[in-house]
Amino acid sequence: MSKPVLWVTRQLTAPVMERAKRDYQVLEHLDDRVLGAQELIAASQQADAMLVCHSEIFNAEVVAQLDPRLKIIANHSVGVDHCDLSALGQRGICVTNTPDVLSDATAEIAILLLLGAARRAYEGDSMVRTGAWQHWAPKMMNGIQVTGKRLGIVGMGRVGQVVAKRGRGFDMEIHYHNRSRLPAELEQGAVFHPSIDSLLESVDMLSLNCPATPENLDLINAKTLAKMRAGSIIVNTARGALVDEDALIAALDSGHIAAAGLDCFKVEPGGNPEFAKRPQVFMLPHIGSSTHETRAAMGFRALDNLDAFFGGHEPGDKLV
Ligand code: DGY
Repeated sequence: MSKPVLWVTRQLTAPVMERAKRDYQVLEHLDDRVLGAQELIAASQQADAMLVCHSEIFNAEVVAQLDPRLKIIANHSVGVDHCDLSALGQRGICVTNTPDVLSDATAEIAILLLLGAARRAYEGDSMVRTGAWQHWAPKMMNGIQVTGKRLGIVGMGRVGQVVAKRGRGFDMEIHYHNRSRLPAELEQGAVFHPSIDSLLESVDMLSLNCPATPENLDLINAKTLAKMRAGSIIVNTARGALVDEDALIAALDSGHIAAAGLDCFKVEPGGNPEFAKRPQVFMLPHIGSSTHETRAAMGFRALDNLDAFFGGHEPGDKLV
């Protein structure tokens, strides 16, 4: 039997590409560029399956023009806000993602951002690099201590639970808001807030770990920011769509929000140049899951889903 044709839209780690080429007829662009709408539509005419990243946008307009040849889109991401799942489901195209395998790596970045924002990592690093560090003083670079503070987590799914665990390592008191309350063994003593407002009023530091669903767009906005305690810190390793960036900038400028740690932005790549003007913002270029180990695990998980599908089984991470 001939191997299914698989479009791998981005260059993945070597072991993942090797396995993909062993088991599929792989089509790829060696220059690793993002495929635009017309290229995705053209790719669907050439392949039975696509292995894509969050950089490829399957909105309703693209989905309507996909060729019936395409049977499955295996995402190399846990987030699937780049895919119109209902349109893909209606077209009978199977969609999978890669949960679990990136929780540790993403939680590491959440903690890095939290510490970086609280302890002024960007300013300190720049000071040493540029030679601006000319004397030491007791009041130099005083930051906000993380240990023992109240950490609020929006979205207590797999990543949120690991962030909570790491936060406990800093003796933080964990609070969370989620669609539903977790069972006690997963909650591990964390305080559940049925409303986002109640969470925001109760914590000193906030980590966003929920998906960017239409209901969550601009979840952090002028109104919700005003609910937060003065001097709070916000960390976002989920999606830029969750934050009204103008509102966050205004809250940073007024000092109501002391600092922010951001791995995700409304516009990617690039980010928001206004954040770059503010030293109290510590930023990374959407690298939450970017470790050698995790990127390989994500690729293998996407291939496991494809193997199940072409082996006649339901993929473990089937979303539609
Ligand atoms: C994810 O898995 O959703 C990460 O943001 C990388 O795409």
